[in-house]
Amino acid sequence: MRHVVLIGMMGAGKTTVGQALAHRLQRPFVDSDQLIEAATGRTVREIWEEDGEPAFRILETKALVDALAEPEPLVIAAAGGTVLRQENRDALERARALVIWLRADPDALSQRVTTHGHRPLLDGDPEAALRRLLPEREHFYAEVAHAVVDTDTASPDDVVADVLAVVEEAEQR
Ligand code: S3P
Repeated sequence: MRHVVLIGMMGAGKTTVGQALAHRLQRPFVDSDQLIEAATGRTVREIWEEDGEPAFRILETKALVDALAEPEPLVIAAAGGTVLRQENRDALERARALVIWLRADPDALSQRVTTHGHRPLLDGDPEAALRRLLPEREHFYAEVAHAVVDTDTASPDDVVADVLAVVEEAEQR
């Protein structure tokens, strides 16, 4: 039993799918942004605006590493930028976590990002930001993912079913 880590862009559905998946697998669910907010008592936006993105990224690494160190297998929603640091990509590999990329095109992503509160990168023109960020990150998602689940046209229930199938197959191996 390994941790299941959902990765992908903002708006990919990591939190929604992760919660449903955790329920189906009867495992605890954690979301890296929520871990950071709980640990610091501040919102992602407050940290970002007061201390800057690099400080946020350090907290993000700690949240990921701490979650991966949990002995109980978890479902972890790793925020969109988690894959950017080599340290985080190495931590995922070291933990032998099952990493699943919820992939989506910028059009689908921008339709889904209804809340920008914890997403300062999407202030202004979210669609333009997603179009710019996706090509910068895609290769990292592809590098760390053991499986890719396409979410462009699928309903959340279908995505959960696809992810569940990936987990069940991986656990049989
Ligand atoms: C970010 C994604 C956000 C949040 C922060 C930065 C990113 O989380 O951590 O705004 O760089 O992609 P979600 O992926 O949960 O939206």
